[in-house]
Amino acid sequence: MVDLKGKVAVVTGGASGIGASTVEVLRDAGATVVAWDLHDAPGVVGADIRDLSSVQKAADAAVAEHGKVDILVNCAGVITPNLPAHEVDPGDFRKTYDVNVVGSFNCAKALFPTLKATGAGAIVNVASQAALVSLPDQSAYSASKGAVAALTRSLAIDWAADNVRVNAVCPGFTLTPMAKQQMTPELDAAVSRRVPLGRMFEPEEIGRTIAFLASPWASAVTGVVMAVDGGWTAGEPALPMGGDA
Ligand SMILES: NC(=O)c1ccc[n+]([C@@H]2O[C@H](COP(=O)([O-])OP(=O)(O)OC[C@H]3O[C@@H](n4cnc5c(N)ncnc54)[C@H](O)[C@@H]3O)[C@@H](O)[C@H]2O)c1
Repeated sequence: MVDLKGKVAVVTGGASGIGASTVEVLRDAGATVVAWDLHDAPGVVGADIRDLSSVQKAADAAVAEHGKVDILVNCAGVITPNLPAHEVDPGDFRKTYDVNVVGSFNCAKALFPTLKATGAGAIVNVASQAALVSLPDQSAYSASKGAVAALTRSLAIDWAADNVRVNAVCPGFTLTPMAKQQMTPELDAAVSRRVPLGRMFEPEEIGRTIAFLASPWASAVTGVVMAVDGGWTAGEPALPMGGDA
């Protein structure tokens, strides 16, 4: 079991889905967890990650209350409607980039001083399998998650000397409100057929990988963009190949 006793973590997008599950997983591992999300809610601090001043205020409040932040999980994200690239509204493209990329950067930037001061800070960015392979009709989302993967490597290099480790997870289809928005029985069947492990994932399966990367058990890991997708990006599970074995 990953042990995070004495650690303080901030999880963005902590009110829903993978973020909410990650809050629970980190707490179960012993961490004190502060959840940020777009709107105030019981147990959730309101912060719009697109806005650096809103993020800075929440970062200062977390440090004032808990003395430090050891772990940042950048989980807040948005997805665009399914449309072929030529029909995507440039405003929607920009909005996706603002949350998924600029938002992740803002949180990392605002918390960097306290992450550095701990001597062993850790950031885990939540990208997507769409950062590694293309999904149809998701140009804005895929481009933004590709940028999250590149940002992960950049921050890992820039902050390695300060022992702030920066990694990313790339979840496959995970059963959250965001995924359910897009779900049809046909999609469910197609995804299950296409995933080598043959199923979709529960949010806590992503949360547990995040907890590992954030923990001292991953002390030698930085700059890694890790698929958590049941093998989707490894290849096709079954092809009707002809010929003798
Ligand atoms: N569910 C999946 O299948 C899947 C697959 C791959 C990657 N992901 C990624 O995982 C992350 C979480 O997704 P989810 O499925 O749990 O989605 P979700 O919609 O359940 O949760 C996303 C949360 O982010 C918050 N948020 C959005 N904009 C924000 C902003 N500007 N400031 C602060 N908070 C904001 C929302 O309020 C929401 O609570 C996202 O980054 C998503 O792209 C999800």
